[in-house]
Amino acid sequence: MRGRKSGGVKARDLGPFVPDTIHQGDALALLSKLPAGSIDLVVTDPPFAIDFRAQRGNYNRTGSRVLDGYREVLPDQYRDFTNRWMEEAFRVLSPAGSLYVFSGWNRLKEVLCGLDRAGFHTVNHLIWKFQFGVFTRRRYVTSHYHILFAVKDPSDYTFNKQDHYPEDVWVIPREYWKGRKKTATKLPLDLVSRILAYSSDPGDLVLDPFIGSGTVAVVAREMGRHFLGFELSEEYCAFALERLREEGTRGGRAAGSGNAEGEN
Ligand SMILES: C[S@@+](CC[C@H](N)C(=O)[O-])C[C@H]1O[C@@H](n2cnc3c(N)ncnc32)[C@H](O)[C@@H]1O
Repeated sequence: MRGRKSGGVKARDLGPFVPDTIHQGDALALLSKLPAGSIDLVVTDPPFAIDFRAQRGNYNRTGSRVLDGYREVLPDQYRDFTNRWMEEAFRVLSPAGSLYVFSGWNRLKEVLCGLDRAGFHTVNHLIWKFQFGVFTRRRYVTSHYHILFAVKDPSDYTFNKQDHYPEDVWVIPREYWKGRKKTATKLPLDLVSRILAYSSDPGDLVLDPFIGSGTVAVVAREMGRHFLGFELSEEYCAFALERLREEGTRGGRAAGSGNAEGEN
């Protein structure tokens, strides 16, 4: 299914923003400055309201190479936070726009309720299965993530089928960045590429209001989409910009972030 779109990115009013930029600041404040209907696709992995700083050394990582500065939301504020950013995401999306939001199981109920409350129609509940989680003694190891695919209008949205049977469980390994500076929660480039291939067209404008290390921007640029990113942490914002400078091409990605086993 292909959404009806209103022309190229240059024709749009983005308020104070220009395409292909990342801005440091609070997503809620920055989203409010974006004109209604200006974005084609939102892809985002929001904070989870768990203390990631305390877990920097997890996942077989050398903690000292994991960038500090990750900004969290307090657990008792999570529902309100989720409702507020989702309302804004709904407002800034074009009538044929789509949203992909990532969630761990522990915050899934707030995310599902927030989507309904904002007016989205949830099209699919995808599972991203990755290769490992944290070591556990008295519970199962978490090795999946939820991705909710939601649209404004269920009769008009972009869906560029890539597979004959596009299944809703995606097995995609986490990336290892052996020996490199990294952030605690970066998404695999292949995972974001898959989303952009299905739910956007070249020239579309993709927004990530919680862009972290800049993965959505890196993939958007290499796939000929435009991007806009917001990030509260100054350290992460600087890291995302540095990554964009160094890693805009498939060649750069292959050299630096392959899926070899070992420390990530
Ligand atoms: C799960 S991470 C995103 C990771 C990203 N997808 C990547 O591949 O690197 C969530 C990000 O949201 C940022 N954040 C937390 N609260 C924020 C807010 N109010 N506005 C903007 N960014 C925020 C955190 O600092 C963190 O970098």
